[in-house]
Amino acid sequence: MAFIVAIDGPSGTGKGTITKLIAKEMGLLNIDTGSMYRSLALKCLNMGINTLDNKEKIIEIAKNINIEIKHNEENQEIFLDGENVTSKIRTKEVTAFSSPVSSVPEVRKIMVDMQRKMAENKSVIMEGRDITTVVFPNANVKIYLDASVEERARRRFAENMEKGIQMSFEETLKAMEKRDYDDSHREAGPLKIAEDAIIIDTTNMTIEEVKDEVEKIINDSKAK
Ligand code: DC
Repeated sequence: MAFIVAIDGPSGTGKGTITKLIAKEMGLLNIDTGSMYRSLALKCLNMGINTLDNKEKIIEIAKNINIEIKHNEENQEIFLDGENVTSKIRTKEVTAFSSPVSSVPEVRKIMVDMQRKMAENKSVIMEGRDITTVVFPNANVKIYLDASVEERARRRFAENMEKGIQMSFEETLKAMEKRDYDDSHREAGPLKIAEDAIIIDTTNMTIEEVKDEVEKIINDSKAK
């Protein structure tokens, strides 16, 4: 029977890294829903839309967008209308615009439908902001990953350095605080902790420790 692991939390908590590792070890399909909002943001930016002034147009683009998540041995690759945009969706411009586009209720509805379809009849591990609350409130396992904003900004800063994305630590921290605030204060699908989610504070944990803890929670749930 299909088994669903839902993981939410703010950016920089290690959701992406953890889900990737667990998906591989436990044979689950990994779906990074942030990459879908990022793809929409990229498409809008490519069309010269960088504010929410023309919401109708953004909704229209979302209705017709074609997003595919393809999995290979090591990674998941994101295709937007047939083009591999795995790196392009990680720029600071796309990161910044992905939060406003994700606040549009009609956009969220389209994305949630797409996410449910992607998971149909499959065992998945899906991460985002509203997976435990909206997309799969009845998931077999519901986890909320957290960490202090300073630690999350430190992780993101190091990651950006590695990827050659130029952003000072201060700028990274500020952008993260703004995105946290916006993502958790919107009307539709805000980031919040589901009542029955298990919270893991990863501030002082290594990736390996978090992975082990999540795997234990999944195994405990399967054994029930
Ligand atoms: O996880 P991420 O940083 O790649 O997400 C990019 C943006 O997309 C983030 O600012 C919030 C939004 N998002 C969302 O609203 N709902 C999701 N399920 C996933 C991401």
